[in-house]
Amino acid sequence: MTDKPFDTSAPSTTTTGAPAVSDRNSLTVGPDGPILLHDVHFLEQMAHFNREKTIERQPHAKGSGAFGVFETTEDVSRYTKAALFQRGAKTEMLARFSTVAGEQGSPDTWRDVRGFSLKFYTTEGNYDLVGNNTPVFFVRDPMKFPHFIRSQKRLPDRGLRDNNMQWDFWTNNPESAHQVTYLMGPRGLPRTWRQMNGYGSHTYMWVNAQGERFWVKYHFHTRQGMAFFSNAEAATMAGSDADFHRRDLFEAIERGDCPSWELSVQIMPYADAKNYRINPFDLTKVWPHKDYPLIKVGTMTLNRNPVNFFAEIEQAAFSPGNTVPGIGLSPDKMLLGRAFAYNDAHRNRIGANFHQLPVNQPKVPVNTYMIDGPMTYHHTGAAPVYVPNSGDRPWADETGKVDNGWEADGAMVRSAYTLHAEDDDFSQAGTMVREVFSDADRTALVDTVSGSLLGGVREPVLSRAFDYWKKIDADVGARIEEKVRKGQAPKPAEGQGQG
Ligand code: HEM
Repeated sequence: MTDKPFDTSAPSTTTTGAPAVSDRNSLTVGPDGPILLHDVHFLEQMAHFNREKTIERQPHAKGSGAFGVFETTEDVSRYTKAALFQRGAKTEMLARFSTVAGEQGSPDTWRDVRGFSLKFYTTEGNYDLVGNNTPVFFVRDPMKFPHFIRSQKRLPDRGLRDNNMQWDFWTNNPESAHQVTYLMGPRGLPRTWRQMNGYGSHTYMWVNAQGERFWVKYHFHTRQGMAFFSNAEAATMAGSDADFHRRDLFEAIERGDCPSWELSVQIMPYADAKNYRINPFDLTKVWPHKDYPLIKVGTMTLNRNPVNFFAEIEQAAFSPGNTVPGIGLSPDKMLLGRAFAYNDAHRNRIGANFHQLPVNQPKVPVNTYMIDGPMTYHHTGAAPVYVPNSGDRPWADETGKVDNGWEADGAMVRSAYTLHAEDDDFSQAGTMVREVFSDADRTALVDTVSGSLLGGVREPVLSRAFDYWKKIDADVGARIEEKVRKGQAPKPAEGQGQG
């Protein structure tokens, strides 16, 4: 994403373009004497080195990505007018995959949800879809999100990750059951990023050219076939190649084995939402496909590696708030909370003008009244800086009903969502365990959960965890409790029999 490819044969210079005198020897008084303060090139090296990292993402710090193209192959114009989703449109894009809780150097193969961030450089501005490899999430109110992430990261005193803290959070927030079951189940350890699905997870809005609104969920199905690690394989890989997923994606694209995904959507007519049997905006729930079947849209292919990881991946800035005409948000409170959080994170992590970096810039011209700030590169010259202005610089002035909005009414409250007829915390998790998992998957689930519970989870969290799993599935819950209790039982001393 640089203007021109870097000329690797050009001589070394200072940052101001003057010839660098030496990149190997500092300036000293005699070969063994003290270093001189006016060795500006040396001092600049030291100072720049101290500033060559950005703050890592909090969360989703460890990841990587690649560029590619999204091609709309089907006609979905009756649902959205968005230019990128009109049949035949080909849109350049960027994808970044990540783990949630790990830090920059964490192993790629620890059990965790994976981020699935997409940026489409459309003809109507950038559209970001910042999802995960699971269709649901742990909580349904954004107020809980920072607490959730802190509970999955590190203890304040030891700086260690802690199973007790993780299970304390999950069991105190039973709406997490569906996502925790997904995470502990057979899809919790993707073998490679190429072999996992991606989901928008939230419900979004699509609007067609006639102004008709629809609720939509995105599903990206891998065309490489899904594949997963066992706990043992993942643990070995974590120790032998912490960057396995990052390496795999780069090397696959490098050898021309470009991964692709098929995008399908579930579409719910606008009016259905009110009385659907579950709250369609609750991020802890899926919409069963028998209610809203998948409709194919197109294909995403990743075909170009970053030329520079820091410039193009580390400084990439995704936000679920970046939408384009024909696409909107929804009453999902999590999504509304996220619409603020990301660009604010970017301002903190990268700087106020993060959107001016090549990787974040749209392909269409930008004409914004948000000006100045550190590192301003693009500017508006001497054009008026306010609206309304008597110069000839246009400004936007739509009024009235917005085309991608919805109706809202009522007193201001702090409250959980209004329950729909079949809303609860455990049924969809239970259905997954009983109807989607095989016998072998259920046995592996019991092993994975009991292994995690044996790793330092104490009362009262432990009993609450057994209860949580029994509410998901009585049999699986009982098996987990039995296995953990056995694992905790003191082992007979050497040479002594049991009875
Ligand atoms: C209220 C809830 C949430 C908040 C406040 C939140 C906030 C954040 C923040 C601050 C970042 C770091 C951004 C950066 O520094 O570039 C981040 C990254 C990320 N989040 Fe969230 N998040 C929330 C929920 C979710 C959900 C529900 C999903 C998926 C469905 C998700 C997926 C991601 C992904 C994939 C990234 C990595 C973005 C990248 O690749 O650069 N987050 N989140």
